Amino acid sequence: MNNIAEQVEKETRQENKENFIYLLGKGKELVNIFYSTLKTAFLYEPNNDAFLKQINPLMSIIEIIIRQEEELSLSTKDGYLFLNQARLRFDFESYVAIRFIMELFQKLKLYKFSLESGIDQEEMQNFIYILVQFDSNVDDPYTSLENKVYENNIKHLHLEKEIPSSESHQILLDKRKLAKKTFFKAISVVKETSQKAMSNKEINFVKVKRVVQSLVDQILQNEEIFLELSSLKNYDEYTYVHSANVCIYSLFMGLRLGLSKRELSELGVASLFHDIGKVKLPLELLNKPTSFNESEWVKMRKHPVIGVKNLLTSLKLEPSSIRAIMVSFEHHLNIDLTGYPQLKDNRELNLYSRIISIADAYDAMTSGRVYSKTPIPPDEALKRMFYSRDKMHDSVLLKFFINMLGVYPVGSLVLLSDGKMGLVIKNNPENLTSPQVKIIADPQGLKDSYQSVDLNKISQSSEEDVESCKIVKCLDPQKYNLDLSQFIL
Ligand SMILES: [Fe+2]
Ligand SMILES: [Fe+2]
Repeated sequence: MNNIAEQVEKETRQENKENFIYLLGKGKELVNIFYSTLKTAFLYEPNNDAFLKQINPLMSIIEIIIRQEEELSLSTKDGYLFLNQARLRFDFESYVAIRFIMELFQKLKLYKFSLESGIDQEEMQNFIYILVQFDSNVDDPYTSLENKVYENNIKHLHLEKEIPSSESHQILLDKRKLAKKTFFKAISVVKETSQKAMSNKEINFVKVKRVVQSLVDQILQNEEIFLELSSLKNYDEYTYVHSANVCIYSLFMGLRLGLSKRELSELGVASLFHDIGKVKLPLELLNKPTSFNESEWVKMRKHPVIGVKNLLTSLKLEPSSIRAIMVSFEHHLNIDLTGYPQLKDNRELNLYSRIISIADAYDAMTSGRVYSKTPIPPDEALKRMFYSRDKMHDSVLLKFFINMLGVYPVGSLVLLSDGKMGLVIKNNPENLTSPQVKIIADPQGLKDSYQSVDLNKISQSSEEDVESCKIVKCLDPQKYNLDLSQFIL
């Protein structure tokens, strides 16, 4: 008897496992098709061939899932997207799609939509056009969405409103711990490889690739923690930390640009090595607290070419090392080639160099180590980069970068209208002027414990204190002698 019960239980477990794997596979397919259908609907009318080419496969996958599962729901919770009960993995092939869908849910204050058996193409098409034409600036996006679904007579679709996040404090702490470990591991790998390059020894390329891989995996899970970590600039061995920061900003861009797994790995490796030519420069020069004179600049400007030599000596030639060599050579050329080293002929910078030079300039400016010796607040750095966009950077990628970091990038110190001082810890993609901030001081002085507030939520509430909780301006932490790392680490 017992044996039969055990057997049934084992079979059920096996079935559940198979079903889960099935859902994960179908989920990936579904989110990618759903995403491309939404994107097509932004550009084309419903009767256009381009749209029909998308909606047909979307309907077939919806039918397949409903037939197998009897239901199909997409929901978000604690920063994840679920197909029915299965949590979809953020992986390279579906990252852009999952992110887009989650941001859409957030904008609509939507927790879940479920499709029932019987849903037809017309209903789905109406739903898609409601989504792409939706004005999320209305007072109550969810109710407005619900009304539109009702008006369009979409009977086989059910919506559920967003519920507050239930992620426990412990889970958040564990995520932070793991993120910090990965970040510092990246720094130590940069340090180790730089020292190898200094003595012309072979670099362990596999180790570098592995650390980039774990950075990507971790960034996929804990984006904002990595943005916080790279907003810290006051480490002792800044040259190594800088490379890890540039790697993180570059990977963020690469992920959003939809680069493949292999491309992300190449981009990450190239960003970690971009300044490897500096290892041969004297430390006093690198750490010089005041501005460089002309002869010091002459030395500094050699690091891209020294980097090329270092990498050629220390790495085996293969596609990813060649990419890294190109980036070392090109990362200070500027988009109009007015930078260094000087070139005789015209050339177009490769994509990785264009991405990395933006991440590099932003980190260098905000840390105040190389080009200007005092750190520039994040919002000011973005402004300066924007003003010199046609000379220095690929303007499309730069706009993309600015959009990604937000008006007040993570790590910005801001003054609120009620006199409190806050540190930006997370941006709200749907409202870039109202991020989440950690309150670190009030007019009476620094606080002992720090409370996090979501300015976006306050701005939407009807309470009286809305006006008193807006960002007035960015502050310069140096002026207040503040070490922001104590609030982040
Ligand atoms: Fe550099
Ligand atoms: Fe750099």
